[in-house]
Amino acid sequence: MDPLVAAIDQGTSSTRFLVFNAKTAELISHHQVEINQSFPKEGWVEEDPKEIMQSVYECMERTCEKLCQLNIDVANIKAVGVTNQRETTLVWDKETGEPLYNAIVWLDLRTQSTVESLINKAPGRNKNHLKHKTGLPISTYFSAVKLRWLLDYVDEVHQAVLSKRAMFGTVDSWIIWCLTGGRNGGVHCTDVSNASRTMLFNIHTMDWDPELCRYFDVPMEILPKVKSSSEIYGWMKSSSLAGVPISGCLGDQSAALVGQMCFKEGQAKNTYGTGCFLLRNTGTKPVMSDHGLLTTVAYKLGKDEPACYALEGSVAIAGAVVRWLKDNMGIVQSSEEIEKLAAAAGTSYGCYFVPAFSGLYAPYWEPSARGIICGLTQFTNRNHLAFAALEAVCFQTREILDAMNQDSGVPLTQLQVDGGMTSNRLLMQLQADILCIPVVRPTMSETTALGAAMAAGAAEGVHVWSLSPCHLPHVTSENYEPQINPDESEFRFARWKKAVQKAMNWET
Ligand code: G3P
Repeated sequence: MDPLVAAIDQGTSSTRFLVFNAKTAELISHHQVEINQSFPKEGWVEEDPKEIMQSVYECMERTCEKLCQLNIDVANIKAVGVTNQRETTLVWDKETGEPLYNAIVWLDLRTQSTVESLINKAPGRNKNHLKHKTGLPISTYFSAVKLRWLLDYVDEVHQAVLSKRAMFGTVDSWIIWCLTGGRNGGVHCTDVSNASRTMLFNIHTMDWDPELCRYFDVPMEILPKVKSSSEIYGWMKSSSLAGVPISGCLGDQSAALVGQMCFKEGQAKNTYGTGCFLLRNTGTKPVMSDHGLLTTVAYKLGKDEPACYALEGSVAIAGAVVRWLKDNMGIVQSSEEIEKLAAAAGTSYGCYFVPAFSGLYAPYWEPSARGIICGLTQFTNRNHLAFAALEAVCFQTREILDAMNQDSGVPLTQLQVDGGMTSNRLLMQLQADILCIPVVRPTMSETTALGAAMAAGAAEGVHVWSLSPCHLPHVTSENYEPQINPDESEFRFARWKKAVQKAMNWET
């Protein structure tokens, strides 16, 4: 039996555990569990750290059972990789092992006033004041402001810091700490890709930055140790996989870049999850954007390997707009139904939907923007609205692709895509039509997990997966060619941009 490598993929909406064949990259078995989000106040988004861990254990155990049913010995699993929703912020007590507050999810807007005052105190009210070190604008999106809120408003967190019991982490750190023993010697670490989304990490020195920590008034002793994305961090302590090394760790968008084999400078992928994230590999040098994109650490595949950087266009709401139509509006009963509705309409009939539920991310970075639906007539029905929602995902991608092309000067000639929403064929065709370039979707859509498994399997001391180009798996894909007239595409995009202006200035 070929060696197997597993990946824990802890996303905003669900947790999965997937097992791959390390020689062929074939997906052997997997299990998925949905994650509840709570919205305690308008703009607040939280998740329960214990529920996250329960979902991880449940997915691992169910997958191991499925392997047994296939007569596959779980002892063939040689390593586990972790990939995760990024920026989501946790603080826990290292002595009790208990979380001190819910996880504050990346989409959360509670820190909007903190962000405004930080921008106001920056020279020239420049939201890019820290960009030279972090690659990021000051925004509610990143962990430092969420951690600041926890330190300011949650007494348990404040007390735990004073008594040296507090540990901060993004979801990767929490999972690795729990799986490697928790309060009985768990390993407190993160990788460079996750660290680069905190705003406390210097993307040039590749370490926590004392000046940034002072800026946000964050005590450095609560931060995890920063490691590469591919090395043995520790060994699983309990569960059916006790003794297996955890040897890969990547933020989910970085993992997708690896899973899509975008190792060369200029290669890019767009992942459609809760949000939508387009990353372009810029090689071993960080490139700063002039068009509202982020500079981020993409990965560092081994202690002694160089770090690779990426330009990133982040869209906050993609799959989340479908969840909103389902959970809040009751327009669809399941996420899959949206495709049927949109196909029945075949057009938005002039309706534009800007789902700026968490403000607007790239390229605008406008936290005060709010969602709008415009262009409604007596004729508009839920099918048109469904179409407009899918079109919104495509227009947002077009905006970041345009920004990326302007930054790099070399336009992308096709877009590699992945993520849950890419099973929606109408969305894929619409995306090709709106970008006016082909969209390429791998037949195996679990590229995020694949990337984490590759990093884990290739780590020193594991070495069951080779990342050398001649050993990379051959990935089959499906292509979507643009089918509409570019003038028609431009007309609709221009209308979308007008709608965005209204979403940004809805109060005036
Ligand atoms: O930056 C947030 C991102 O990592 C979340 O990804 O797939 O849960 O939308 P996803």
